[in-house]
Amino acid sequence: MTLYSRVRPLAFKLPAETAHDLGKRTLRTAQSTWPTRTALSAVYQYEHPALEVDLFDTTFPNPVGVAAGFDKNAEVTHALEALGFGFVEIGTVTPYPQSGNDRPRLFRLQEDEAMVNRMGFNGQGMERVKSRLETDGTPGFPLGVNIGKMNSSNEREAIEDYRRVFDRLSPFADYVVVNVSCPNTPDEFDEASPDHLREIFETLEAENDADVPMLVKIGPDEPEESVLDLVDIIQEFDLDGIVATNTSTSREGLESPNREEWGGLSGNPLQDRSTDVIRTIAEYTDGNLPIVGVGGVDSPGSAYEKILAGASLVQLYTGFVYEGPATAKRINQGLVQLLERDGFASVEDAVGAGLD
Ligand SMILES: Cc1cc2nc3c(=O)[nH]c(=O)nc-3n(C[C@H](O)[C@H](O)[C@H](O)COP(=O)(O)O)c2cc1C
Repeated sequence: MTLYSRVRPLAFKLPAETAHDLGKRTLRTAQSTWPTRTALSAVYQYEHPALEVDLFDTTFPNPVGVAAGFDKNAEVTHALEALGFGFVEIGTVTPYPQSGNDRPRLFRLQEDEAMVNRMGFNGQGMERVKSRLETDGTPGFPLGVNIGKMNSSNEREAIEDYRRVFDRLSPFADYVVVNVSCPNTPDEFDEASPDHLREIFETLEAENDADVPMLVKIGPDEPEESVLDLVDIIQEFDLDGIVATNTSTSREGLESPNREEWGGLSGNPLQDRSTDVIRTIAEYTDGNLPIVGVGGVDSPGSAYEKILAGASLVQLYTGFVYEGPATAKRINQGLVQLLERDGFASVEDAVGAGLD
């Protein structure tokens, strides 16, 4: 029995967001001194050459990252590194602080190993995040920055929002993600419409003198034609990759009473759908567009499935909540065994190997 399996029932008695805040405070305390950080690393980090992924002009020590939304304000990046993750995507960061939707806005669906959230882009805004990255220093593993618009912005203002956050935070980033797929922010206009996307990418490209790799995050609920249209635009602008997928508005097959809550569904029920989206993109692009796979990853098998379907890296959020601090280590150890079993020398060799 692990420590987390004893702590989890207690944490799960608390409202989900309270437990999340408590967990983050613990991580922030743990990362603040060298001895605690070193102790965490000693227990949770796992290194193996087969896990290294060279992508976006940097080296990921392993392919298992923390998805956007967990560390919106870059408060615990060093603790996440010590817990053995291969990278973290902070954000979504907006230009100004924003309180998000009213609480409660985060719900566990325990029977389904899932969560529903309607946080609504709560965050401290780009200036706080920038000064924290300056005072804490960037972590020793790759840092993604996920950027978004203010909830109150109209179509024109949204472009300026993306430009401002990109301008402020891209100097810290190994890659930047434009998030146009949040299902729980107001949708005054179609954020993922081709015209709007073109305008965003034109604006950011003009801003991107340092050539920071730029990706787009998509949702799992789009029909295949829309996904492929988006991929066409990504290729038209020569962007560097795609993050697939965000949370879902679907409630198919769920058992927990909290399925009635509105918001984005994450976790186990999203697993197959997000893998399908990854496979569709990888097949359409012949594996030439790097994919960061996210949705329901909680075990070596679920991470491996996404890699075989074409993901070069994977991320998780809900799996971390359910599986605890040893999640990255367990997945990475299991991945090495799966690679050896199937005769792959590395994760990179296995990317897309499950495609026809
Ligand atoms: C509470 C919560 C907040 C999230 N916030 C964001 C966010 O701010 N930006 C974003 O791009 N994705 C956000 N996500 C989506 C995750 O990054 C991820 O795409 C999704 O949860 C699927 O992964 P999972 O099944 O491993 O949780 C959030 C997810 C959760 C559960």
